Amino acid sequence: MKKRKILVTQALPYANGGIHLGHLMEAIQTDIWVRLQKLRGHDCIFVCADDAHGTAIMLSAESQGISSEQLIAKVNEEHQRDYAAFSIGFDNFYSTHSNENRELSESIYKALDANGHIDRRKIKQLFDPEKNLFLADRYIKGACPKCKTEDQYGDNCEACGSTYSPAELINPRSTISGATPIEKESEHFFFDLPQFSDMLKEWTRSGTLQDAVANKLSEWLDDELQQWDISRDAPYFGFEIPGAPGKFFYVWLDAPIGYMASFKNFCEREDYNFDEFWKPGHDTELYHFIGKDIINFHTLFWPAMLSSAGYRTPTAVFVHGFLTVDGTKMSKSRGTFVNASTYLDHLNPEYLRYYLAAKLSNGIDDLDLNLEDFAQRVNSDLVGKVVNIASRCAGFIGKGFDGFLSVELDNEELIKEIQAGKDEITQHLEQREYSKAIRLIMALADKANQYINDKQPWVIAKTDSQSVELQQICSTGINAFRLLICYLKPVLPVMAKEAESFLAVDPLVWSDIDKLLLGSKINKFKPLMTRVEADKVQAMVNATQTEYEQQQSSSVSAPEQDDTGFEPEIEFGDFSKVDLRLAKIISAEHIEGADKLLKLNLDIGLDKSGKPITRTVFSGIKSAYKPEDLEGMLTAYVANLKPRKMKFGISEGMILAAGPGGEEIWLLEPHSGAQAGLRIS
Ligand code: 2FM
Ligand code: ZN
Repeated sequence: MKKRKILVTQALPYANGGIHLGHLMEAIQTDIWVRLQKLRGHDCIFVCADDAHGTAIMLSAESQGISSEQLIAKVNEEHQRDYAAFSIGFDNFYSTHSNENRELSESIYKALDANGHIDRRKIKQLFDPEKNLFLADRYIKGACPKCKTEDQYGDNCEACGSTYSPAELINPRSTISGATPIEKESEHFFFDLPQFSDMLKEWTRSGTLQDAVANKLSEWLDDELQQWDISRDAPYFGFEIPGAPGKFFYVWLDAPIGYMASFKNFCEREDYNFDEFWKPGHDTELYHFIGKDIINFHTLFWPAMLSSAGYRTPTAVFVHGFLTVDGTKMSKSRGTFVNASTYLDHLNPEYLRYYLAAKLSNGIDDLDLNLEDFAQRVNSDLVGKVVNIASRCAGFIGKGFDGFLSVELDNEELIKEIQAGKDEITQHLEQREYSKAIRLIMALADKANQYINDKQPWVIAKTDSQSVELQQICSTGINAFRLLICYLKPVLPVMAKEAESFLAVDPLVWSDIDKLLLGSKINKFKPLMTRVEADKVQAMVNATQTEYEQQQSSSVSAPEQDDTGFEPEIEFGDFSKVDLRLAKIISAEHIEGADKLLKLNLDIGLDKSGKPITRTVFSGIKSAYKPEDLEGMLTAYVANLKPRKMKFGISEGMILAAGPGGEEIWLLEPHSGAQAGLRIS
């Protein structure tokens, strides 16, 4: 077999938010494919990085009171942790804010410029005169020029569907500062995409793309291509354009170059040759896995840039659809926009890997994660079929034969049939038709279970627990199990590892499918996977909803902030409406299913007749305090806040705390003279 040299990437996640189920679908799709190649003995390298540049990241860091560098470092750690928990086996996970990426971006840009593919001209754009910032369309809102609906974004109206330029909005305002934008001129740099029209027509039709994608592109390519604006004015978090002070590369210019940079960084550590994978004329393969929203960047701008700068173009771009949950777009308020970390608080990551594999195809249609079907499918396939085979046979081998498998099998035909599935299963996985591969694997598991049902080893064991027949039947079952685990290893690496230790074998590889396990000693069987419990799925949805509600109640509306980052001024009269009291925490308790909230019972003083007043408040301070430590503490309390219905009950008022979050949320310390109910002024 020829050993292929393959470089694989998945889309680089933005460095200003957590990894969620949508990211995970792509990561899992890519990881399964990479694991397959590695198991087959190919030299397959999987690189990724955070997409760390752009206005959104700059503003997000600013609103958190940290530098962009601090934000992207923090997020990089979180991303790596989340991906690792889902067994995404990157060979390198880097950042686009790196020296390698700066050097490559500069050199590619210089090559484009030297080849006459960069155009410079002045354009007019809306500018925020308070923030001193040019505004991308999504940072401008106003009334639709056609139907007059208020609060529409700068490029299209959600009410009537019309598209327009932001300058046409009625009463436009910057969503960053609230200021009225002005028009301002500045010089921009453009990549001259139209020069690549013929090259792209050929490249997109050369078998590099799925038909649906190539068809979509040929519609665009039939129209005239536009030059692509690759520069942004300061302030911008990114790389400054060489020879153009105050001008920065647009984030989408250096993002795909981040694929190269991550690989380059990998080559600095490992014995790989960068040019072999990126310069033309080598026998290597390059694949990008991406979602359908970023097709144009990867199949127009990217191959054109690469070819201008003297690099190879991708062997193929593999596009997938979006992930929906319970039939609709993931939604924070419905609790279906689930973050990786929230999922991990409740469920085993291999459940998700399996479910997505069982539904993924190589098309660009959306994939639905139906939460009921998810539990049902994992339970019936993995627990009910695959693990069941081992659990029905292992005990008899342990008890009757001291753990030793027989040297001959009772049913070689069954085992040969499972082995004979190899080519078709490999083909489906290679073609990214994972659902087809899983269907075949489960059909083979059904056959193995049927065989065990027919042979009823438990009946034989009753009369003779050491009969040769019993050992050979159970050894046939264990061999069937071993083969199924081998097939599933790209999808379920953790379960496969546990199965390998149960079988007492070296890490399985694809060629092991052609072999048998005879006469060796296996270990005691431990359940390899437990059932998905419906209440855990619900708890995950609830936790996601609670996170959202908390964010909503604590988020400040950015557009109304001024330069200090503070809320707009209020009159003294507004402030004096807030009845601030000193409250004493009588008791605090955990809430089932809540990750951040504690339920507090407060003493807020005495009413006019001298009776004590108590209140219940839900507060997001669980990360900083144990319930028992809170008892007796004093805190500032907003006594006249309208009660709010929350998922876990009604919150009566609100306690005040300060601090950056996590373990640092400060309440007041108890003070001997202080008494609950005191009005604070
Ligand atoms: O759409 C996104 O999430 C981008 N951060 C993907 C970048 S992929 C590559 F080009 F870097
Ligand atoms: Zn409209």
